[in-house]
Amino acid sequence: MNYKNFFFLSLGLWIVVILSLGKFFFMGQTHSASDGRKYVELNPDEKNYVLTEMRGLLTAVNEILVGMAANDNQKISLAAKSVGMGGHNTVEANHNAIMLKLPVDFKKMGMDLHGEFDSLSELAETPGVSSSELLLKLSGITGRCVHCHTGYRFSND
Ligand code: HEC
Repeated sequence: MNYKNFFFLSLGLWIVVILSLGKFFFMGQTHSASDGRKYVELNPDEKNYVLTEMRGLLTAVNEILVGMAANDNQKISLAAKSVGMGGHNTVEANHNAIMLKLPVDFKKMGMDLHGEFDSLSELAETPGVSSSELLLKLSGITGRCVHCHTGYRFSND
């Protein structure tokens, strides 16, 4: 084989590699689930890890509501911060293998969610903030939970 052919062959192979990596990066490992949502394939440990994080999110939302009912802005701020970007139990912080399997829009929704919790935490510390402003922010957050749950699941059964 002459050098020119070799060049085009290796260029072709690189393009295939880059396109497959690109597809992997954007789509993750998703399939269509029987209920019309997308199904992200995780192994049992990974699934447990993400679902544990999910229950942590629900716990934080519950603590935030308890804080709101008690007009305790400090409690709201701390609970929101615990699931913010700096949280150590997030998938983003610990599990690169899981991150690779998740499609880009899923990761973006997850990151944005953590950012919104930080923003709620800051809002709760703002002097003079009203309870309806805090509730509006929280309902925006739970809207994000609903949005992702509408589109994705982790198993097909
Ligand atoms: C980026 C996507 C995404 C976002 C955002 C998201 N979730 Fe989830 N969550 C999922 C998926 C996927 C499942 C698994 C659902 C399934 O397999 O049917 C799940 C499952 C759960 C579960 C069930 C846990 C278990 O033990 O089975 C809870 C509780 C939960 N989420 C709470 C929340 C709350 C609260 C929020 C918002 C504060 C939230 N989630 C935001 C994707 C998301």
